[in-house]
Amino acid sequence: MDITILGIESSCDDTSAAIIHNGVLLSNVIASQSVHEMYGGVVPELASRAHQQNIIPVVSEALRRAKIEKSQLSAVAFTRGPGLMGSLLVGTSFAKGFAQVLDIPLIDVNHLQAHILAHFIQEPDVERKMPNFPFICLLVSGGNSQIVLVKSYKEMEIIGQTIDDAAGEAFDKCAKVMGLPYPGGPFIDKLAKEGDAKAFMFHKPHIEAYNYSFSGLKTSFLYFLRDKIAENPNFIEEHKADLCASLQKTIVDILMDKLVKVVKNLNIKEVAVAGGVSANSGLRDRILAYGAKRGWNVYVPKPAFTTDNAAMVAITGYFKFQDKDFCGVELPPFSKVVI
Ligand code: KG4
Repeated sequence: MDITILGIESSCDDTSAAIIHNGVLLSNVIASQSVHEMYGGVVPELASRAHQQNIIPVVSEALRRAKIEKSQLSAVAFTRGPGLMGSLLVGTSFAKGFAQVLDIPLIDVNHLQAHILAHFIQEPDVERKMPNFPFICLLVSGGNSQIVLVKSYKEMEIIGQTIDDAAGEAFDKCAKVMGLPYPGGPFIDKLAKEGDAKAFMFHKPHIEAYNYSFSGLKTSFLYFLRDKIAENPNFIEEHKADLCASLQKTIVDILMDKLVKVVKNLNIKEVAVAGGVSANSGLRDRILAYGAKRGWNVYVPKPAFTTDNAAMVAITGYFKFQDKDFCGVELPPFSKVVI
């Protein structure tokens, strides 16, 4: 049976549509919203307005690049949550209308599960190693930091998560303090390559179980800079690369510390990373090196599938389609984290 899924993602500030045919990605179009740059963070109302402008062109382009007619679609999969409510409403409403007009099933997708299932996207002529179940996934993005036990395509259990800020938020907020553009994670990553990761020490939290906390790090970074700038107003400019390298090392240390404990205690050596922060070169290098030393099978996603994209929504929809796991048009979006 031929299965062709249109995936739609609009949970935050990227409007994206993708086509997956029998598990293979045919197109993945992403319209990012530069309007937020000048505010140093995502402005929810502006994000939903931009989604409204982008959604139809993005879906048309995804169909065009995939060389697929609307009539060939088997179902429409959309991100139901978590995310910004105004943003989610745009993708959700579009998906519902589109599926109804075409008289095809509608599939709701959890954004966090989609980040994890991005590991199963196949591309034409690309060989990719995929995780075996059960595996442990470190899911790190701008809104979430979790350790998830992935038992199957649909059975996932959060075994640890942040009690305050996400890792991506720590990158972005500290970057803002240093005057770097938004989102700051990729800028810190780039500058860190030229810096000394041992130049400065920052706060590492002691949090129970497998949970994370990043708000203390952000505050300690802010106070550290405030004191240094009082002595030398050019401190940030003169030490930017070292600051980025040291901050990045601290965030990676915090993430790895709990991940290592989970792997050891659950004795599962299939380990994946997912989400926007999994694009970070420091995290990738560390997890690959650590895994090689400890005999883990490590899976890092292709950079294009780390940040928000509809390919991951379409592949999740593809698996749900096979289970006939459809939803009704009355299903509302949700903003809070559930998996
Ligand atoms: O997954 P994502 O696109 O959106 C959410 O669902 O949150 O993640 C965005 C986050 C931002 O915080 C961004 O700074 C971070 O991922 N990010 C990075 C890198 N690339 C993206 N953080 C560190 N290093 C990177 N190379």
